[in-house]
Amino acid sequence: MGKKSLLSIAKLGNKVLRKKAKKVRDIHNRKIKRIIDDMLYTLKKSNGVGLAAPQVYHSYQILIIASKPNARYPNAPLMKPRVLINPKIIKTSKKKLHDWEGCLSIPGIRANVSRYKKIKVSYTTPKGKEKTITLKGFIARIFQHEYDHLIGKVYIDHVKSSDMVSEEYYFKRIVKS
Ligand code: NI
Repeated sequence: MGKKSLLSIAKLGNKVLRKKAKKVRDIHNRKIKRIIDDMLYTLKKSNGVGLAAPQVYHSYQILIIASKPNARYPNAPLMKPRVLINPKIIKTSKKKLHDWEGCLSIPGIRANVSRYKKIKVSYTTPKGKEKTITLKGFIARIFQHEYDHLIGKVYIDHVKSSDMVSEEYYFKRIVKS
């Protein structure tokens, strides 16, 4: 196992966040493996619950979901990090839910956006296996947030009204009340 690097996070305004990410053709490519390892390490060291490759300046269709309770998301469920390569949304629920999100690429801000309650997705694992899974609730929300990064979107694109945006300090007061 090689040395892992802490990657720097692209912030809103950087063009890489607005590009459509490339499909990964060779899952077993060393460069791809390195990106995934470094993304896992970077996510572990941050208070994020997900990360997409364009956020670390690699415009590939790779995302990680790694929900865990932490200072930024105290109520997040705990799960083992899951790496999804070339993910696709196959099916969505009719029902959508509103909740607060944040993004490592947009520090200091939270916004309340609507997401599908349940989604069915297919993807390739880092070992090259094709998988289909159903995600619900907060995990489904993380997926939809990270998937946006692969198609050049960010979560604040979904904000319906500017009073649904809050600076982090005030957000903490909103969720406590
Ligand atoms: Ni994000």
